[in-house]
Amino acid sequence: MRNILVTGGAGFIGSNLTLALQKRFPEAVITVVDDFRSGDFKNLRGFYGDIVAADISRLDWNRQFGEANFDAVFHMASITDTTEHDQFLQVHDNVEGFRALLNYAAVNLIPVVYASSAATYGMASGRMSESQPPRPANVYAFSKTHLDNLARIYNRMHPSWRIVGVRYFNVYGPREAHKKAAASMIYQLYSQMKAGRRPRVFIAGEQKRDFVYIRDVVDITIRAINAPDSAVYNCGSGHAFSFNEVIAAINEALGTHYEPDYFENPYAEFYQSHTEADLSITQKCLGYQPKYTPEAGIKEYISILESGDGFFDFIP
Ligand SMILES: NC(=O)c1ccc[n+]([C@@H]2O[C@H](COP(=O)([O-])OP(=O)(O)OC[C@H]3O[C@@H](n4cnc5c(N)ncnc54)[C@H](O)[C@@H]3O)[C@@H](O)[C@H]2O)c1
Repeated sequence: MRNILVTGGAGFIGSNLTLALQKRFPEAVITVVDDFRSGDFKNLRGFYGDIVAADISRLDWNRQFGEANFDAVFHMASITDTTEHDQFLQVHDNVEGFRALLNYAAVNLIPVVYASSAATYGMASGRMSESQPPRPANVYAFSKTHLDNLARIYNRMHPSWRIVGVRYFNVYGPREAHKKAAASMIYQLYSQMKAGRRPRVFIAGEQKRDFVYIRDVVDITIRAINAPDSAVYNCGSGHAFSFNEVIAAINEALGTHYEPDYFENPYAEFYQSHTEADLSITQKCLGYQPKYTPEAGIKEYISILESGDGFFDFIP
């Protein structure tokens, strides 16, 4: 890959991906496009490629990039605050941004990898496989479901074009702090404990999430560009880890003994109690088995957080 475009490259996953691509393909020209609505320039320290500050749903793609012959596009840009309930904004910016990108990439059938989300599984519980029908429970998840629909529609028009979705579960790791309340539960609980407070979780802390470490996420995302088929691939750790287990792992890493502070779940009727990625298709088609268990990922992550500015040197 010599000419690569990353949308949302100032965000959590996008910046880690951009820096990893820069390391793995040092000769490549990498262009990031981001409107910085949730991303942060600090995430891109050490990046020496090009940056276009623009909203991809309002950008004139042909005017901006013309005949630029990208070898690959990694599409990470999205509103990621799931509590943003402005339905027009969520659907417009997330879906029209992707449509504009696809219309631009269609001319040269540039391979596209885009970020799908486990939120599309909605209230389904337990092991989640790609063949399950979507059940989006909020407008963010609805917009991400429509990305999968759009990818299928464009693929039907151009069967030889590779448009691959990577369906992220709960990603955690360095360069997520800018997401504040939308950062991972691991980061939220760590921050509370570091501030000397008991970690707050819904009663009784046994809700489970498939937490996947950023190193595995970046590996799967880069592999997806060579996926054998245009399809959506689950991107998780394959482990369901409870909030109580997260707290225990953080206590272990920090050498502390905080007890959870349980409180009533106000969203109980539409709160996912258990997410867990079925990775059989990802392993078979992308040839990748995540390397990090939640315990190992949390241990490494906490040691990076504890090293102060340490994340600046982190390249997944
Ligand atoms: N982090 C997770 O656990 C997770 C889980 C499932 C899916 N995802 C998906 O992964 C992708 C990356 O998420 P993240 O966690 O890095 O979030 P993030 O908020 O850190 O990154 C999103 C980036 O996109 C940019 N952006 C948003 N809308 C834009 C637009 N219209 N034009 C240009 N830039 C725009 C933001 O400024 C930000 O830099 C998103 O598509 C998200 O939906 C993330």
